[in-house]
Amino acid sequence: MLIRRARREDIPALAALEAENPGYPAWGESGLAAEFEKKFSVTLAVWDEGALLGFINFWILKPQIQLNSIVISVKARRAGAATALIGKLAEYAVKNACAEVDLEVNEHNAPAIALYGKLGFKVVGRRPKFYNNSDAAVLMRKTMQA
Ligand SMILES: CC(C)(COP(=O)(O)OP(=O)(O)OC[C@H]1O[C@@H](n2cnc3c(N)ncnc32)[C@H](O)[C@@H]1OP(=O)(O)O)[C@@H](O)C(=O)NCCC(=O)NCCS
Repeated sequence: MLIRRARREDIPALAALEAENPGYPAWGESGLAAEFEKKFSVTLAVWDEGALLGFINFWILKPQIQLNSIVISVKARRAGAATALIGKLAEYAVKNACAEVDLEVNEHNAPAIALYGKLGFKVVGRRPKFYNNSDAAVLMRKTMQA
């Protein structure tokens, strides 16, 4: 697996990955492109032998990192790609002296909640009717080691 910063030419492939998950709130090509305009926004892509496996986007908002999106291709799941991307995010947190990583996840997204729990994120709150005025958002946080 190779992880590197995503490039503008990757945008169509990133959007195609989002489209594999119809229920997942997607940015689409224009939303993904907008992230390249923000100095504090980082998009990392994970590849295997030239094939895009997934990506992560986060904002470095010192002293916090906000994890906005992580998507792995359906055919590449359960092989550690998301774990590897969050591991890279942790390196950014340390380098930027960010003590906390925050995220929101749909209460019904059991795979994602399991992933974050395994990686040390704790539930710190809940926003009712956050998604489409229906599903709650679970707020999770990881405190990074100094
Ligand atoms: C959630 C998601 C990112 C996980 O990606 P992944 O690369 O398959 O995750 P990993 O292989 O790194 O899994 C690490 C751990 O997470 C948990 N996990 C991941 N998928 C799971 C599933 N479907 N069911 C239960 N636990 C799961 C397990 O604990 C797993 O460890 P294990 O395989 O040793 O049991 C992926 O399913 C995905 O892209 N989903 C659609 C988009 C999405 O919902 N993103 C999160 C939005 S907040």
